[in-house]
Amino acid sequence: ATKMILDCDTGVDDTMAIMYAAIHPDIELLAVGTVWGNVEVELGTRNTLRVLDMVGRTDVPVARGAAGPLLGGETEFAYHVHGHDGQGNAGDNEPVRAAESTTAAQQIIDIVRQHPGEVWLVPIGPLTNIATALALDPELPKLVAGVSLMGGSAAAPGNVSFVAEANIWHDAEAAQAVFAAQWPIIMAGLDVTMKLLITPQHREQMLAGGPAGQYMGQIIDFYGEFYRDMVFGEWQCATHDSIAVAAAAGHLDVRLAPVVNVEVDTTGGPGHGQTLVDLRGKYRGFPEQEGAHTTVLLDVADGIVDDIVDLITDFQGA
Ligand code: BDR
Ligand code: CA
Repeated sequence: ATKMILDCDTGVDDTMAIMYAAIHPDIELLAVGTVWGNVEVELGTRNTLRVLDMVGRTDVPVARGAAGPLLGGETEFAYHVHGHDGQGNAGDNEPVRAAESTTAAQQIIDIVRQHPGEVWLVPIGPLTNIATALALDPELPKLVAGVSLMGGSAAAPGNVSFVAEANIWHDAEAAQAVFAAQWPIIMAGLDVTMKLLITPQHREQMLAGGPAGQYMGQIIDFYGEFYRDMVFGEWQCATHDSIAVAAAAGHLDVRLAPVVNVEVDTTGGPGHGQTLVDLRGKYRGFPEQEGAHTTVLLDVADGIVDDIVDLITDFQGA
């Protein structure tokens, strides 16, 4: 099984990713950290605990992380996408337990050092906690299996600005530190996550399934309405965060994913938060780039969405 630590800003698509990682038999979910982003970190932490409780994973430690960006400054949240509760205005149940007393960054260091070379870090929110862990323990890049993140965009449009994706834009300085560190990274960005869509049929299927499926089917309605109104013109929504989990677990049928250099725009200008991805080699079949260590997913098979929806639908409780 693939050992993973998730780091999330638990809104709707994060919830699906947590369920996926928590119940898939090939994934050993060691811990979850929380970070500001879609919602305030306190709320995201409660949501994370509640979702893990719901799928019977009260054994998975949850540590609270950063409440705002690495260098301070403004926080903006996405309640209009994920609902006032981060659960599509349909969340219920208080969590049955509390978060750990350690921070999300320290939890990463402690667990990675218990399993050197084995743990995938899977950040699916802003990269504040990952950058903090790096600063606290500069040896971390040598000690992880890799980092599989949801964020950025190589050639697709942005979502929070013309060119920036939310997780990178929220904390561009943290993201730049993460991309600069010498660890293997998989970037599951908008190039693929905007093409892997949850449809009304998927929602119906989940609503007719077990408890996790029913909950997911309920909370996803509001999120799909946002995508209907602001993006697609019909009810469907991006799978986003689950794709970083799938990439780390080796569940994706990858068709095109060059290893290239990535930088983050931290200028504060109109390009702020953009991932600058060196795709110049595409005309030559992507020859090796010096120093490159980020695998950028550009094309993957879409069957993964059905697989995740089936998994969550069929889960019958702990
Ligand atoms: C990312 O931003 C958040 O809204 C989602 O949870 C996802 O992690 C997509 O840009
Ligand atoms: Ca997220």
